[in-house]
Amino acid sequence: MARIHVVFESGEPARTIEFDPREAPFQHDGQPASVLDVLLGHGVSLQHACGGSCACTTCHVIVTQGAQFLSTAEENEEDMLDRAPGLTPTSRLGCQAVIRDPDAEIHVRVPRHTVNLISGHGS
Ligand code: FES
Repeated sequence: MARIHVVFESGEPARTIEFDPREAPFQHDGQPASVLDVLLGHGVSLQHACGGSCACTTCHVIVTQGAQFLSTAEENEEDMLDRAPGLTPTSRLGCQAVIRDPDAEIHVRVPRHTVNLISGHGS
């Protein structure tokens, strides 16, 4: 089983999810087996204002371990990430970062502040 550990800068309790990427999608938003797909499908909320279509930055996560288990960021993800508040070298869009390895072990941090580019208002 793959595992993802999630910590929230907002202070919500950390979560660990075990899942089999081969069973993706777990719900309907974002790429199948993406961080967003796995979290939402296991009852962990992550903002996703554009519905997981790489058109906002609300699903921004910071990968603290296991980046090698994630799909490589495409250019459109990089372009969108450039607008994310609190961007780090290991930032990803949760809806685009896909976990394919069934033995993956990934740690992510969810930043406190996100900006909803779709509505044009901060959240
Ligand atoms: S949910 Fe909008 S880019 Fe991921």
